[in-house]
Amino acid sequence: MLSRKGTVVGVRGFGVDVGGSGIKGSVVDLDTGALVVDRIKIETPHPATPDAVAATVAEIVARAGWDGPVGVTLPSVVTTGVARTAANIDPAWIGTDARALFSAALGGRSVTVLNDADAAGLAEDRYGAGKNVDGVVVLLTFGTGIGSAIIHDGVLLPNTELGHMEVDGKEAEHRAASSVKDAKDLSYKDWAVEVTRVLRRYEDLLWPDLFVVGGGISRKHDKWIPRLENRTPVVPAALLNTAGIVGAAMVSANPQEKGIAP
Ligand code: BGC
Repeated sequence: MLSRKGTVVGVRGFGVDVGGSGIKGSVVDLDTGALVVDRIKIETPHPATPDAVAATVAEIVARAGWDGPVGVTLPSVVTTGVARTAANIDPAWIGTDARALFSAALGGRSVTVLNDADAAGLAEDRYGAGKNVDGVVVLLTFGTGIGSAIIHDGVLLPNTELGHMEVDGKEAEHRAASSVKDAKDLSYKDWAVEVTRVLRRYEDLLWPDLFVVGGGISRKHDKWIPRLENRTPVVPAALLNTAGIVGAAMVSANPQEKGIAP
C-alpha cells in the first residue's frame, strides 16, 4: 500500500548517519519515521579513514542485529555510491567507492550511500517540518559547515552544495555555519545577520516555499529565527538528531528513493 508521498506502509529500514563526532544508527519505522529501537552511537574513529568508518558502521549494524539493506550518510557529495568531496572529513574519502566498501564490511548486502543533508532533507520533508508543504523545501543544516537539500514535491535534487556558494565574497559556510559563531564568539543577533545574508541569496536564486533549518543550533531556534530578516518562512527541523538516520533508512528500503541514484 502506498501513502500520499509514496512511502510503502509497514516497512522498516536501517539508517546510519556518519558525523564528525559520532556515528549513529537505528531501525526506523518508515510508516511514521520513528526509531524502532534506541539509537546506537559510537564515537567517530580518528582518523576517520574509510576502513575505520566502515568497521564502525558494521559494528552498529551487528549490535542492532539487523540483517537487511542499509542506508549510510556521508558529509560529502556522493554520486552512484562514490564520495566525491571531503570538505569536513578525511580527504582519503575522495574517490572512495563508499557503497562497495560498506557493502563488503556488511557481508555483501545491499547498501545505499547519500549526502548527510540530503538524508535529513528527505526525512524532514516526509515526516517532519516540511510534511505538509507541497512546493520547494530547502533544508539547511548549520554545524561545522552548512549542508543543503532541495526537495520539490517529495523529490530530492541530490548533492546541492549551497554551503559552498559564494555570498558577498565569502563562502556561505565560512560566514554562517554555527562553527563560525562559536569560533568568533558571535552573539545570536550578530550571527543572525550573517544567516539572513546567506538566506537572502539562496531565496533570490531558488524561490523556495519554506526553509527548514537543522543542526544542533536549531534547538535554540527561538534565539535566532525571530531575528532573521529574509523573505521566505523559516522553521526549525522537527526530527533534530534523528533526521540523518531516518533519511538513510528511507533510501535503504527503497534505493530508488526519489532523486537518489541506485
Ligand atoms: C559539505 C556537505 C555536507 C555539509 C554538512 C559541507 O561542508 O560540503 O557535503 O552536507 O558540510 O555536513
